[in-house]
Amino acid sequence: MNLISPTRRAQRVFAVVLVCFVVPAVAPMTRRAADTDSTPKKILVAHRGASAYAPEHTIEAYELAIKQGADFVEQDLQVTKDGVLVCLHDESLERTTNVEEMFPDRFTEERVGGATVKRWFVADFTLKEIKQLDAGSWFAPQFKGARVPTFGEAIKLIRGRAGLYPETKAPEVYGRRGFEMERLVLAELKRHGLDRPGADRRTPVIMQSFSAASLRKMRAELKTELPLVLLIGDENKDEWLTPAGLKRAREFARGIGPAKALVNASVVKAARDAGLTITPYTFRSRDSGQFTSVREEMNHFLYTLGADAVFTDNPDEFPRQRLSR
Ligand code: G3P
Ligand code: CA
Repeated sequence: MNLISPTRRAQRVFAVVLVCFVVPAVAPMTRRAADTDSTPKKILVAHRGASAYAPEHTIEAYELAIKQGADFVEQDLQVTKDGVLVCLHDESLERTTNVEEMFPDRFTEERVGGATVKRWFVADFTLKEIKQLDAGSWFAPQFKGARVPTFGEAIKLIRGRAGLYPETKAPEVYGRRGFEMERLVLAELKRHGLDRPGADRRTPVIMQSFSAASLRKMRAELKTELPLVLLIGDENKDEWLTPAGLKRAREFARGIGPAKALVNASVVKAARDAGLTITPYTFRSRDSGQFTSVREEMNHFLYTLGADAVFTDNPDEFPRQRLSR
């Protein structure tokens, strides 16, 4: 990959971003794990809550993430038929709820790889209907009865205890259904007085999306000043993980969130040179690759490669300091 050469200006921009926005935002939370060296504080984003131990995107998973010391708790967002933001990773309900049992006839058939599959889309159900679903039993029997939280409920639970890291999921799909997801998200944050950077030092907010259009809309049209992070996976890496792409990303984003398989030392350096923070995903105990543990894996990405933060299913394994050998 042809990577950007370092410039003083970009390095200064990165330092300002980290010192002015990210570090102060999480300082109250990171102080409790005081670092003794001079390396910048690393940031722990609980991926769908503490989702290795509790059903993803439930109050139970968010609560545990906070107990395990998360600096931020992530919310993937979808929109119900009646226009309410709910916290759910998938566009449809069948993987993480008992929707098939509760609403057996309310599916849409889709062709996937030559086969027909049934999907129960969030956008085809009202909030009242979604609230009837069990979002816990699929994970383990003791979580039976866990519910799909609204974004507003998540904010109420997390506020004052950790930061929020909402992601606009499939904004173009909801756009076609007549919902402006970005406007809904910012309106909900505004209702809670969290739509501006620094509004509540205990609850910093960082917006994320795989959709550059969604982030650009929030920045240019809706004028948010909240930090924005562009997510990068196989599907959009060629567009963004180049010197020119990173430079373009910096026009609207404060940082990038690439899949960890795409991250190496030169990618971290390129992001820094472009003035972008870097937050790879996803670190999980059930998939730590060549590393002996997820803690070792996060240690490598944070302290050897130099990432600023990570998304992890295992907040309790996050290495606050470089592991000693
Ligand atoms: O948002 C970071 C990471 O969560 C992206 O992957 O599919 O888990 O939302 P996904
Ligand atoms: Ca996500």
